[in-house]
Amino acid sequence: MKTKLIAPSLLSADFGNLERDIHMLNRSQADWLHIDVMDGRFVPNISFGFPVMKTVKQHAQKFIDVHLMIVEPEKYVEEFINAGADLVSIHYEACTHLHRTINLIQDKGAKAGVVLNPSTPVLLLEDIISEVDLVLLMSVNPGFGGQKFIENTYKKIAETRDLILSNNSTALIEVDGGVNLENAAKLFEAGADVLVAGNAVFSTENPEKTIELLKI
Ligand code: DX5
Ligand code: ZN
Repeated sequence: MKTKLIAPSLLSADFGNLERDIHMLNRSQADWLHIDVMDGRFVPNISFGFPVMKTVKQHAQKFIDVHLMIVEPEKYVEEFINAGADLVSIHYEACTHLHRTINLIQDKGAKAGVVLNPSTPVLLLEDIISEVDLVLLMSVNPGFGGQKFIENTYKKIAETRDLILSNNSTALIEVDGGVNLENAAKLFEAGADVLVAGNAVFSTENPEKTIELLKI
């Protein structure tokens, strides 16, 4: 059976009512909670760090998917795992010693993902694909929620799937940015296993229902 997982991004949640929004996600059909950590250096925006992460962990009953948009991620992965991350994804563009950092994440007991910006080619993953648990394809330029989906992502999903198959890798493919009710089914059909959705979930009247619809 094909994997069809939805990971709502807390970046679009109401931070004044974070506990309420997490409880809503616990009740919903969401599979993972996607946590976007931004440092104002790798991306032109700053989001949140460990205190928020710990609050999320305290209330969340779902798998915690942490997306680090920070330089030198190797300095912080262990602390994110201690704070409750089940999966930590680091950017190819932000990590000089990617192999070492992927191994560090796994040694500390979490799943490890590698993230590609929209302009970074999939073929650069050839020598790491058999080691990673997930490839996260950015379908917007990272830094902000609510941006327009980049259509070239479909091509990158197909390329990633080929790379996974030709290397007997078990990596999942996650797509992040501009996912909505119009493109979700098409993305799953194209080979995505996990879809991140921020704005598409939290800007709707009934986020729980929207999560359900994104899985159809
Ligand atoms: C962007 C983040 C995304 C963002 C997605 O840098 O990595 O996870 O929250 O938001 P939407 O779904 O609104 O594009
Ligand atoms: Zn993200």
